[in-house]
Amino acid sequence: MKNKLINIAIDGYSSCGKSSIAKSVSKEFNMKYVDSGAMYRAVTLFFMNHKIISNSKINYDKLLRSIDDIDIDFYYNIDLNITETLLNGKNVEHLIRDNNVSNQVSNISQIKEVRDKLISFQRRMCSSKNVVMDGRDIGTKVMPDADIKFFITAEIDTRARRRFDELIKHNNLITFDQILINLNKRDTDDTEREINPLVKSDDAIVIDNTSLSYLQQNQLIFSLIKQKQDENNN
Ligand code: DC
Repeated sequence: MKNKLINIAIDGYSSCGKSSIAKSVSKEFNMKYVDSGAMYRAVTLFFMNHKIISNSKINYDKLLRSIDDIDIDFYYNIDLNITETLLNGKNVEHLIRDNNVSNQVSNISQIKEVRDKLISFQRRMCSSKNVVMDGRDIGTKVMPDADIKFFITAEIDTRARRRFDELIKHNNLITFDQILINLNKRDTDDTEREINPLVKSDDAIVIDNTSLSYLQQNQLIFSLIKQKQDENNN
């Protein structure tokens, strides 16, 4: 018997492995993966490239006038088996991970018009189901009716260490302390912003992966998803 199609929401703090989890789930269960953080990053890169953010100052008039010029899409790279982010047709997958973008993205993701645009796009992407999406407000705002919701967390030092290891792999010149400062700021921005702050949805399953190996975490998450599929099939 074929499983019924489901949507999965994965929310949580920055750098706690949400996107790795979402990618493994997408592979294991043959679902479409949507990285909502990549969209906020791509929009931020657009504003940086067009000098709408300059020296951390945002030109709101220009921002509102140019918001409809932004087109975001995803491209599945068969060779690398990953989904890459396109900004107005250009592959920006590496550029959006740069620390300059990381430093500005929280400010941009607090702007109502930016959120409205991206949330309506994200809702369209999951309307036909079979989507696993990660972010901050997926279980609460983008897909409040998701079949299964996870809220991922880990201690901040562990998260900073993982991000540091990831960035130096791409020859990024950054120190551990710079990452820790950035993560602390993003945690505060994410949880304290007025519009759609990061909050755990009441029906989300909390996974603290501080002392879980990648394998243990995946086993746990996969078994919870299989359990849900069995319930849905009965
Ligand atoms: O997941 P990430 O670190 O790539 O996300 C980048 C930023 O985008 C993060 O600082 C918070 C914001 N974001 C958001 O506000 N809502 C989402 N659904 C996803 C990301």
